[in-house]
Amino acid sequence: MLRKTIEVALNKQINAEFHSAYLYLSMSSYLQSIGMAGCANWMKVQYQEELAHATRFFDYVVERGGRVQLSPINEVIVDFKNVLDVFEETLRHEVTVTGLINNLMDICINESDHASKSFLQWFVDEQVEEEANVEQILNNLKLINGEGQGLLMMDREMQSRVFVNPFPAKA
Ligand code: FEO
Repeated sequence: MLRKTIEVALNKQINAEFHSAYLYLSMSSYLQSIGMAGCANWMKVQYQEELAHATRFFDYVVERGGRVQLSPINEVIVDFKNVLDVFEETLRHEVTVTGLINNLMDICINESDHASKSFLQWFVDEQVEEEANVEQILNNLKLINGEGQGLLMMDREMQSRVFVNPFPAKA
């Protein structure tokens, strides 16, 4: 059984994951509108990953006998300056999410909820990867000044990203 404090904190994280998904879908739409189909694809996969994260939190709350209560999703940015601006915002967002996951882990440690700590460890590790991936993209974008032939080549590479469910259904 989940303690109330943990249940509330996990519910907040479900909302944050859906908010991330909504933000990345908004970014995908913007990227598509400026003809960056590959980057739009990358962001759409990012959106799918966030949905998978939200669902994993949802399932965990249910598994532990808790109650999921969905709350409204905050508004997201719909307009950006350019591709670089999108990925700078993505990095800022992921750093914020890392903070949320760390806070959540602190709550679980304070409550001595070892099962939730173990569950959350995957997300702690995932955030390291998320930040590193976006930093890499940002570095590449800066190298090409976010424009020209280089940007077109990068866009083509971003087209190859495919969604792989990190939590395949248990047999
Ligand atoms: Fe669900 Fe991008 O962290």
